[in-house]
Order: sequence, then C-alpha cells, then structure tokens
Amino acid sequence: MTPPSDFNDRMLSLGLARVSEAAAHASADLIGRGDEKAADQAAVTAMRNQLNMLDIQGTVVIGEGERDEAPMLFIGEEVGAGSGPAVDIALDPLEGTTLTAKDMPNALTVIAMAPRGSLLHAPDVYMDKLAVGPGYEKDVVSLEMSPTERVVALARAQGVAPKDIAVCILDRPRHEDMIAEVRETGAKIRLITDGDVAGVIHCAEPDFTGIDMYMGAGGAPEGVLAASALKCMGGQMWGKLLFRNDDERGRATKAGITDFDKIYTRDEMVREDVIFAATGVTDGSIVKGVRREPTFIESETILMRSKTGSVRRMVYRNPVR
Ligand code: FBP
Repeated sequence: MTPPSDFNDRMLSLGLARVSEAAAHASADLIGRGDEKAADQAAVTAMRNQLNMLDIQGTVVIGEGERDEAPMLFIGEEVGAGSGPAVDIALDPLEGTTLTAKDMPNALTVIAMAPRGSLLHAPDVYMDKLAVGPGYEKDVVSLEMSPTERVVALARAQGVAPKDIAVCILDRPRHEDMIAEVRETGAKIRLITDGDVAGVIHCAEPDFTGIDMYMGAGGAPEGVLAASALKCMGGQMWGKLLFRNDDERGRATKAGITDFDKIYTRDEMVREDVIFAATGVTDGSIVKGVRREPTFIESETILMRSKTGSVRRMVYRNPVR
C-alpha cells in the first residue's frame, strides 16, 4: 500500500478532476454575461472549496497573484485538508476570463499538482513560449531560432513543405512581426484571442487539432501549466521569462529566480511527475464546454498523468435539483 505521505498520483488525479469540474460549473452561469471578474471569482471560490477537501498538504505556487493582490488562491496559500502528501499546486481557475465573458471558444479551468518543490515558481510576467508535439527529435526547434527557421526545421522533420505546417499564435500587436514572418514561409496560422494553455496543448494532438507548433509571448504562470500538460501528453516546450521593468524583475527575485536569461525546458518547469486536469467552460477544440439543461449540468474534463502518459476525457453529468 502507498504510504499516505507519498504522491499517489493515481488516486489524487480523480480528486483533481473534481476540482476543475467544480470551477467550470460555477463559472458556467457567467458565460456570455460580459463580466470577466464575476466569472473568475465564481471559479476561484469553487476551485478553492473543492481543493480544500483533498487529502493533501498543498501550496499554491502558480495562483491568482501575490498575497496582497488576491484574497484566495494567492501564491503561497496553503490548501488541502492538511493531511497526505506535500504538493505544489499550479492553477488557473478560469483560463480565458474574456473568452467566458464573451462566450468564445476554449475557456478552461486548469489545475496541475506535483510533489512539493517540483514546479517552477514562475512570477506573473510574460514568457516567450515555443512548443511542439511528441515524436520529434530533441530540440527540433528552439527559442533561439527565428520564426522562419522554426517552421523550416519542423517541416523538414515532418518531411513536408512549410505550407503544410500550422502554427498557433496569440493575436496581439506584439506578435505582428512574428505573424508576418511565419506567413512569409507559407505556413498556416491559427490566431487565438486568448488562452495559450489550450494553444500549447493543441500541439500534443496535431491530428485532432490541426496545430503543429505554438509560439509567442503569454503569461509565465500559464507557461508552467502548459508545460505540465505537455509532460503528460508528450511534446517539447521551451520558455524564457520576459521582463519589462524592475517591478517584474523584483517579482522574479522574490520567486527565487536568479538567472533572468534562462531558457527553461518543459522538464525544468515541471521537474517531477505531475497530474493535470482541465474542464471546458466554453466549447473548445480540446474539450466541450459546460452544457446546462433544465434537469442536469454536464461538463467534459481532460485528466492526465505524466507517470503513465494516460489521457482521460471524462464527461460528468449532475442533476440540477
Ligand atoms: P486570463 O484568462 O487570465 O485573462 O488569461 C488569458 C490569457 O490569454 C492567457 O492565456 C495568456 O497567457 C495571457 O492572457 C496573455 O496575456 P495578454 O492578454 O496580456 O497578452
């Protein structure tokens, strides 16, 4: 029998699915209501309540913000019932607050759990990200390469032409040059308005999503969550923290970061086995969104474990009383 203090990922994973389901169900009432804050708050409260029922001694390492900015699920908050294994928790109770408020695709509730001390404490700054799916040789592409070089290298690795490569990028003014350069290669681009955790996950299932590579700058906390997902599904990812000012550098120092130029690989962001759960809030290309009917509420969750590489898609239906 596994001692209660061990990271029993197999048993804990089902509890983790409940946590992301609870957050999705809570925010579902706020889909399309134009209120990002209310949607986020509903997800935060539900996620925290459910998390506190798990037999873990959890510390939030990727959360809603610094202690003075976020009353719940702040970085450093102790969560769980207080017994069981000591774990790091990375979470984004609502990844895609705007997507939810505007009823646009791919809003997710997201949570990852790993043994204490194994997740990168990424500060709330931007991260330059690059990801590809499984099956390529190590370092097939790199952050040091130009966007053109990345497309050409991936096309060569697949034995196809650059025009057959599909890249996912966040639609932001800061990516204008990158988008123009990728278009020059002939590659296809799927522009997303938000939600780069889903953006990165797309690369792990190219046959299903049609995406081969993700690139561009987005939130660093979302980077660690995406790396957790890719560690379970297979695929490579690289991330480099981007700093705009001294305040952001200060946040990094506080989080224990000393090398500001480091490029983190997937396994440097997530150093041990991890479990990951995400539930669809709005319909998306990874999971369906919450469906509310007069008599029941239904949601779909993707639940995975890096130890086994198992990926479950689970539909949960609960009667509305
Ligand atoms: P929120 O749901 O927290 O608003 O985050 C959505 C998101 O699109 C992330 O997926 C992404 O990493 C980040 O925002 C990008 O930041 P910005 O909107 O500043 O470009």
